[in-house]
Amino acid sequence: MSKLLISPSILSADFARLGAEVAAITHAGADLIHIDVMDGHFVPNITIGPQVVKALRPHSDRPFDVHLMIAPADPYLQAFAEAGADIISIHPEAGPHLHRSLQTIRNLGKKAGVVLNPSTHESVLDHVMDMVDLILVMSINPGFGGQAFLPSQLGKIETLRKMIDRTGREILLEVDGGVNPETARDCYNAGADTLVAGTAVFKGGPEHYQANIAALKAAAG
Ligand code: DX5
Ligand code: ZN
Repeated sequence: MSKLLISPSILSADFARLGAEVAAITHAGADLIHIDVMDGHFVPNITIGPQVVKALRPHSDRPFDVHLMIAPADPYLQAFAEAGADIISIHPEAGPHLHRSLQTIRNLGKKAGVVLNPSTHESVLDHVMDMVDLILVMSINPGFGGQAFLPSQLGKIETLRKMIDRTGREILLEVDGGVNPETARDCYNAGADTLVAGTAVFKGGPEHYQANIAALKAAAG
């Protein structure tokens, strides 16, 4: 397995051809498929729901890495699980009971992730580390692709790397926002093992996806 997993964000895909796009990034070497779910309330943008996730499921055999930017998230966890999500990640700010939400995701038989906004402190994880399978560090403010990477998040990635290593558990440390071959190297050096990338993967169209993904993986080389 590669040292760096790449989870292309389909937010930058051609939405009119979403199934073909998911198949194309799968063949181009995507390790996971990152699906950004936005409600126009928790974040200022609206994207896709469980029905679209279900429709995309047959187009890839890679784990679906579903990033919920919706509040509340709890009423929709089951729908995303049934639609074919493999990892469901939630923001602690999306509801009053992070522990309960993580329990729900795990009881649905799915991997549970916690997403930290740029201003969110890693201590929010202190009492749920035994329940998380993935920690997602936002290196932009969530809502839109194409934003510039916030280097202020690199210290948080380093701290989380240590927190994860102390548990001895397998927890993915993923970074989302403004990831390109250059910032990918900074993330990898800080301890990330999984990178989300929208713009950097989809730029140039399908004939470039393989090279774009390889350029990100090379950050670990
Ligand atoms: C933004 C999303 C990201 C976004 C990343 O809220 O969570 O996954 O698609 O896009 P790029 O890679 O273009 O910054
Ligand atoms: Zn995302």
